[in-house]
Amino acid sequence: MRAAFPTPFLWGAAGSAHQTEGNNLASDFWALENRPGSPLPERSGDACDGYHRWREDLDIVRDLGLNAYRFSIEWARVEPVEGAFSQAELAHYRRLIDGCLERGLTPVVTLHHFTSPLWFQLAGGWLADGAVERFRRYVRAVVPILDGVEWVCTINEPNMLAMMANVLKRHESGEKRPELVAGALPPPDQPTADALIAAHKAAREELAGFKSGWTVANQNFEPVDGADAQCADWRFSREDQFLDAAAHDDFIGVQAYTRVQIGPDGALSVPDDARRTLTGWEFYPAALGNAVRHTAARIPGVPILVTENGIATGDDDERVEYTRGALAGLHAAMDDGADVRGYLHWSLLDNYEWGSWHATFGLVHVDRTTFARTVKPSARWFGDVARAGALDV
Ligand code: FCB
Repeated sequence: MRAAFPTPFLWGAAGSAHQTEGNNLASDFWALENRPGSPLPERSGDACDGYHRWREDLDIVRDLGLNAYRFSIEWARVEPVEGAFSQAELAHYRRLIDGCLERGLTPVVTLHHFTSPLWFQLAGGWLADGAVERFRRYVRAVVPILDGVEWVCTINEPNMLAMMANVLKRHESGEKRPELVAGALPPPDQPTADALIAAHKAAREELAGFKSGWTVANQNFEPVDGADAQCADWRFSREDQFLDAAAHDDFIGVQAYTRVQIGPDGALSVPDDARRTLTGWEFYPAALGNAVRHTAARIPGVPILVTENGIATGDDDERVEYTRGALAGLHAAMDDGADVRGYLHWSLLDNYEWGSWHATFGLVHVDRTTFARTVKPSARWFGDVARAGALDV
């Protein structure tokens, strides 16, 4: 059977600044990676040297037959010192946007993808008085370079950020780092969640004229052993409050990889006999369709853009198998009425996965010494699907 997707439809690949550019020296994450006793096993370092090699990356995206590219603007580069905006860095990102437009690629621009300037963090991060205004001022500085951009994501995975704020707090107080299976993280730090929601709203006020929204990590929480009420609570704090905050946005970004089962005592570990990916997550392609259905039901009427979906694997055939399953689930959800405008695969490159280089999500391999890019067969397969606008299922 051939599952045809609507036209127009965004078919693209995604990445983020800290994970791809390299040497993001003024950011809080760089400081975390490089401090003595860092909880993170590996550093981002030169990353994929995307800061210099972005033209090559955009050529790959175009040549594959994709029509969209998601990347982020790095606040720590644009405002490395509070109040001091770098015109040269803004011009860099403007060139990147022009690079997309010249190649016929629709840029999907994220303004904050997990990292903040170190000065912002040292001043108290999202919990400081004035944090929202600091973010607003950064967004205001970026708006002039966004000419020709349609889709803007304010903050990537605010729910993960707020959960990680809690993890880091616990780490500082000497608690062992919990297993970082995303959906099983401790609940969000609620004041951080509230600040992020306020920052998102402030950013949207600055983004009149664009399609603006944010991207939420969907964990496909599933109740087991009658834990329906626990699961609903679990999902509300970790996911639904962030969807509700987007109920009047121009779009919502859905990001889904796996599922997490919730029993009476909380999140269950992935069973030993389950098929797992390199992140330790369960191999679960149905995650995407389910996430889209949940989002469409929770905030009806808000157009959906799949801003991330993919798999960490060293077996490229498995990437095709996973993505085919995910796209089939997406198509079925759309058949049932979900208003989905595009699918952006995570990720274009084998990039830095927040503490490690082990979990390779890329459609494109990157040599860790020469930074040479090698397009994988899965990328060509995905490009063919995009060109055809249809999937054989
Ligand atoms: C998401 C992040 C992205 C990447 C993928 C695997 O949580 O937004 O940067 O790490 O997961």
